[in-house]
Amino acid sequence: MLVRALKPPFAVAGEMWFTEDLSFSLNFTESVLMAADLKNIISIRDFDRDGLLEVLEKAHVVEQDLPAGLLAGYVLGVMFIEPSTRTRLSFASAMVRLGGEVLDFGDPARSSLQKGESLSDTVKTLAGYCDVMAIRHPWEGVARHSAQIAGIPVINAGDGSNQHPTQTFLDLYTIQKTCGGLDGLRVGFIGDLRYSRTVHSLVEALSFFDDELCFVSPGALRVPEHLLDEIKQRGVDYQEYDTPDEILSELDVLYCTRIQEERFADKLEYEQVKTCYRIDKELIKKCGAKETLKIMHPLPRVDELSADIDDTPHAVYFEQAKNGVPVRQALLAMVLGKL
Ligand code: NCD
Repeated sequence: MLVRALKPPFAVAGEMWFTEDLSFSLNFTESVLMAADLKNIISIRDFDRDGLLEVLEKAHVVEQDLPAGLLAGYVLGVMFIEPSTRTRLSFASAMVRLGGEVLDFGDPARSSLQKGESLSDTVKTLAGYCDVMAIRHPWEGVARHSAQIAGIPVINAGDGSNQHPTQTFLDLYTIQKTCGGLDGLRVGFIGDLRYSRTVHSLVEALSFFDDELCFVSPGALRVPEHLLDEIKQRGVDYQEYDTPDEILSELDVLYCTRIQEERFADKLEYEQVKTCYRIDKELIKKCGAKETLKIMHPLPRVDELSADIDDTPHAVYFEQAKNGVPVRQALLAMVLGKL
């Protein structure tokens, strides 16, 4: 795994923590309590069913009746140490549309990280310039660590292959809106189930609802064991499959993912799986998918999802991306104590 090559993280309760140096250690219980009062959005693990539904309800309120000027005078700091289009820009759009301002850290190559400054010092410094921070980083556990030292609310915008909680809220919001609810669904996940943080977060969230989960991937890209153990303990009904043909006709939702090239330490391993599946109109037809099947994707897509799906009623991925705005508006307002 790439994160291992960068820094040796260690695992606690199924979550990976990074250690920049040995001057701090994290206490799991403490972190969870800290996040539970919604000062931070770090992991779906910090929520339960009611907590998830509360955020979604607030996103609906915001979308229907935008409280203009709600965050006037507040500044969102955006620090992305990995590429992003949707998450970065929908955070910015959410803040600006609520009357707030955005301070973007910009290209890390132009920051003092390049001079060897530690991430901790960078986070503490940025925290002095804004009121809430959204952080994306390739190391697992960075957001949790940042929340411990920042002194302002921290939102995890993706930490390695671990978690992407704000994406999960917009995924849940999209399922709720397009399927009419979050229970009683058969949800398929296809592609890189090993490294996709969006899958890991969403699987945890759906484990609080009465759904059947179907995981389709080659053997090398299965859902991590610790996550399967967790959902098993919660009594979730799930099955693993090698090919979409085995299950496509029975699904209500198909959640496609990009093979996460940047997470593979072994490029040969990536080459072997990079074209493992492609969802297109022909496959959907051949497998007899339900007319009501919703196809989701966190985007960006590469080759795994054909553009010929775009003009079918199955495609909800651009609507999904757009839902990032009301959902992130609700989250920003909540962590700032305004909603
Ligand atoms: C995802 C991510 O960054 O994890 N994208 C997103 O935030 N919308 C998925 C991906 O990069 O494949």
